[in-house]
Amino acid sequence: VDIGASTITRLPFATLEPEDIAFFQQLLPNRALTDPDVLASANVDWLQNVQGLSQILLRPQTVEEVSLILRHCHLRGLAITPQGGKTGLVGGGVPIFDEVIVSMALMNHIIDFDDWQGVLVCEAGCILESLMQYVEKRGRVIPLDLGSKGSCQIGGVVSTNAGGLRFIRYGSLRSNVLGLQAVLADGQVLDLMTQLRKDNTGYDLKQLMIGSEGTLGVVTSVTLLCPPMPVGVSLAYLGCTGFPGVLATLCAARSRLGERLSAIEFFDHQCAHLVHTHLGLNPPISGEFPFYVVVEMVDSDSHEDNEKISAFFEEVMEEGHVADGTIATTPGKVKTLWAYRERIPEAILRDGHVIKYDICVSINMMYDIVTATRQRFADRIKNTLGYGHLGDGNLHLNISLTTPDPTLHSDLNDFIYGWTAKHRGSVSAEHGLGVLKRHAIGYSKSSDAIALMRRLKNMMDPKGILNPYKVLPSEL
Ligand code: MLT
Ligand code: ZN
Repeated sequence: VDIGASTITRLPFATLEPEDIAFFQQLLPNRALTDPDVLASANVDWLQNVQGLSQILLRPQTVEEVSLILRHCHLRGLAITPQGGKTGLVGGGVPIFDEVIVSMALMNHIIDFDDWQGVLVCEAGCILESLMQYVEKRGRVIPLDLGSKGSCQIGGVVSTNAGGLRFIRYGSLRSNVLGLQAVLADGQVLDLMTQLRKDNTGYDLKQLMIGSEGTLGVVTSVTLLCPPMPVGVSLAYLGCTGFPGVLATLCAARSRLGERLSAIEFFDHQCAHLVHTHLGLNPPISGEFPFYVVVEMVDSDSHEDNEKISAFFEEVMEEGHVADGTIATTPGKVKTLWAYRERIPEAILRDGHVIKYDICVSINMMYDIVTATRQRFADRIKNTLGYGHLGDGNLHLNISLTTPDPTLHSDLNDFIYGWTAKHRGSVSAEHGLGVLKRHAIGYSKSSDAIALMRRLKNMMDPKGILNPYKVLPSEL
């Protein structure tokens, strides 16, 4: 655990009194939990980087209950942390001190589905994978896919503005979330639940909630646009001898597959090696290559798919961009091949203490920082790994260490964030800032922009009770 009460100064919030517990227990019978087991797990994030000290977890079932919880906390000056599936990677969904945890898990109902438009209305606690299954039965897909789909909740996904594997095809949640409902710091319910595709009436408050990591409001419901489900899905798993080949494969996929391209991901040999050694997955192709690219395409006619993906595969082989590969055209094999990419974070986690970076830069230079980090820190690092969303220029640079090393961590931050800032990149492309990266915001945003964010936060949450110690840096 890197971050917790010992590394941050607690802000002067009220502390939980027996009267508060009595209030919550009356409001939420059997759903205001103080059991040590429940709290032990809710206080730690998935990566075990952050350790909180919360003494109570609330499980509201309705927006009215969330509103009453926040009203009480606002009046009392108690801080809260909204919690979804706890799959975040920057510690945004766990408390730091004794914040009241507001778990959205029981608000997991689908409210409405409009078949004709493909518009899904659901509560924030719905698990992404169950939403996928629900809409797929109705001929639609959720416009985003994440490795953590079995646990993450749509409210957390929206609050993080998570990107994931389908970004290249469907774009950001900022365009796919048509509306939402959120509870503000003082308990006021903000209803922005429109289903409109276009709406220029005033400031877009919905966008303020998306990606603000629960610091401006608690998202309680979401209206999501779900595109039609493709009939055929096929995938090519390719080995490349160098990063220029990876880039040429991307160009070929874009021009040959066009709008059929639904995902294009890359990872280096180091990632493939860990997936093999730590998870026991056998490589899908026999040779070893410095880079692998996974290309997924979709179509409305499965027959056409096979031909298109084969033609693409032949072309990249002939041109010498790709040295070897395999194609999957059945759902089972597509799923098996995806696992080599999707399970990389899990494999890395088994390699030791992990430091994760989530950078966005120009695609043609996205691997340069992996090579540079490897060269510069070689003797101090166990493994340097590069993988990510190739088509979006979103690199996940991960470092594994035998034991935590705060000095090295700080040297890495200076080097990697410094390089990113020099190239006007983003130091958090899709994971958010949470508590782990809030002090890096200045590498990607000007002090004027940060000052305006602070004014917005102070105006919307004057007592600062919503997910404190997250997103904005501490004021020293
Ligand atoms: C991914 O792309 O696999 C996720 O963003 C998780 C990660 O970066 O480790
Ligand atoms: Zn990612």
